[in-house]
Amino acid sequence: MSAIPNDAAARPFVSHPIHLTLNGQQRQLNVLPWTTLLDLLREQLDLVGSKKGCDHGQCGACTVLRDGKRVNACLTLAVMCDGAELTTIEGLADGDELHPMQQAFIKHDAFQCGYCTPGQICSAVGLANEGRAQDPAQIQELMSGNLCRCGAYSNIRDAIEAVVLGDKP
Ligand code: FES
Ligand code: FES
Repeated sequence: MSAIPNDAAARPFVSHPIHLTLNGQQRQLNVLPWTTLLDLLREQLDLVGSKKGCDHGQCGACTVLRDGKRVNACLTLAVMCDGAELTTIEGLADGDELHPMQQAFIKHDAFQCGYCTPGQICSAVGLANEGRAQDPAQIQELMSGNLCRCGAYSNIRDAIEAVVLGDKP
């Protein structure tokens, strides 16, 4: 068994420099090695749109886009994002123009309390980027990582279907 150095507890924590493109802006940051992306966003950068629902990868409330792909920010270490392009719910709109997925959620009234909504929308944008969902059943399956405790699922599905499959007549 290897011995733990006596001075281990006294050593300063070493933060790591990372470079991100975050919502279109270049950011140079120093992060501790155990800081999650979710805590970096919420606690250090004041981007509180991404929600901490479970902190265990089970609810999807923390979903953000990393290089266009959806990830659970609570399961992603910030140091792993060095060089990445990140988009959170705060960065989806184009100026005053909401992203089409945001517009669809409003049009289809796809929320109640709204707590899951940023994660639902980011995940749905990632789903659209993937191009894998071809019908409502596939959308339902591929969105199953995003839970809604209010049970607004039918309207959420309608909103996502409108963007991914095209509006119903
Ligand atoms: S807070 Fe990340 S999946 Fe629930
Ligand atoms: S709208 Fe309340 S948790 Fe989804």
